Amino acid sequence: MINNLTLTLLTAVEAELQKQVSRLDQPHTRPFHEMLTYHMGWTGEGAGPEAAGKRVRPLMLLLTAAACGSDWQFTLPAAAAVELVHNFSLVHDDVQDHSEKRRGRPTVWSKWGVPMAINVGDALFVMSHQAILDLSQTYPAEIVVKAAGILHAACLDLTRGQFLDMSYERRDDLEVEDYWPMVSGKTAALLAACCQIGAVLGGADEATEEAYRSFGHYLGLAFQVQDDILGIWGDEAVTGKSAASDLLEGKKSLPVLAGLSKRGEFARRWAEGPITPAEVEQVARQLASESAYEFAHEAARQMTDMALNSLRAANPQGEAGDALTALAHRLLSRSA
Ligand code: IPE
Ligand code: IPE
Ligand code: MG
Ligand code: MG
Repeated sequence: MINNLTLTLLTAVEAELQKQVSRLDQPHTRPFHEMLTYHMGWTGEGAGPEAAGKRVRPLMLLLTAAACGSDWQFTLPAAAAVELVHNFSLVHDDVQDHSEKRRGRPTVWSKWGVPMAINVGDALFVMSHQAILDLSQTYPAEIVVKAAGILHAACLDLTRGQFLDMSYERRDDLEVEDYWPMVSGKTAALLAACCQIGAVLGGADEATEEAYRSFGHYLGLAFQVQDDILGIWGDEAVTGKSAASDLLEGKKSLPVLAGLSKRGEFARRWAEGPITPAEVEQVARQLASESAYEFAHEAARQMTDMALNSLRAANPQGEAGDALTALAHRLLSRSA
């Protein structure tokens, strides 16, 4: 499924990430550096590719630059930057969601406590900005400023999405339509930024840049819907995350909003108060029996279609273009 180009890119991304994170490798604070390398999947018990995650965002950035006909090697600092933003958001998200497992291992906060996890997230966040500035070694200042501006805007959108995600937990007045602004912020903003930055660095014209941005946006929406599906009906051994916590936390994921809109047995139980661990499996089954799985899957398929339409408009070139199309299909049917 994964072609040679993708494997080459993934190897290069890992080396660039290690270089960026090594900024923190100093004798007096070595255990701090180790918290970061643990989260990135490189050290500690269970280290390895599964503990590192899929690295989808840097892959999209590099493939986009290459599909614009440019040399992806020069864009590596930006690829590292988007993955560092993603990882900062995961460390903080696990605190916000009280999640004890990520990529099959204990989360940073559950290992070292919330105060340390906040600090680890902060370090990853700052490093992402240092990484993007490294583009100035090969790109003119105006391009670097443009790329950094896109990344900063995505980070701010991400916090807006997280605000909605958390505030929705306590709201019972929400419709399916309220879902899209939340996931546009928390997930799609960064994927859109990955493709837009890739296009900017690839020298694309404005219309092509916009088409790539739109591709990333819709793919991001599809990606989060799939994450929601896996967050209820996924296999924990494959996702590396809890399949109970979304329901326990009262997350207004797409399947839940779809279920609530039916005003049936699921909605009746939901209105009674928080789901307990003993009930989770039964509630997930009830939700599936009210067609919430099909609804969410169909939404993910539609968003993937929109993404592929935008990608066609961008007219991606060569092996990288084919790899972007394949990636969009692969993400829709992913189980991790
Ligand atoms: C998880 O993202 C959080 C979401 C935005 C859905 P990924 O599924 O890309 O996580 P990793 O990096 O592969 O672990
Ligand atoms: C995804 O949040 C978006 C961010 C991490 C900012 P979720 O809370 O939906 O993702 P998982 O399921 O914990 O990875
Ligand atoms: Mg969350
Ligand atoms: Mg979460």
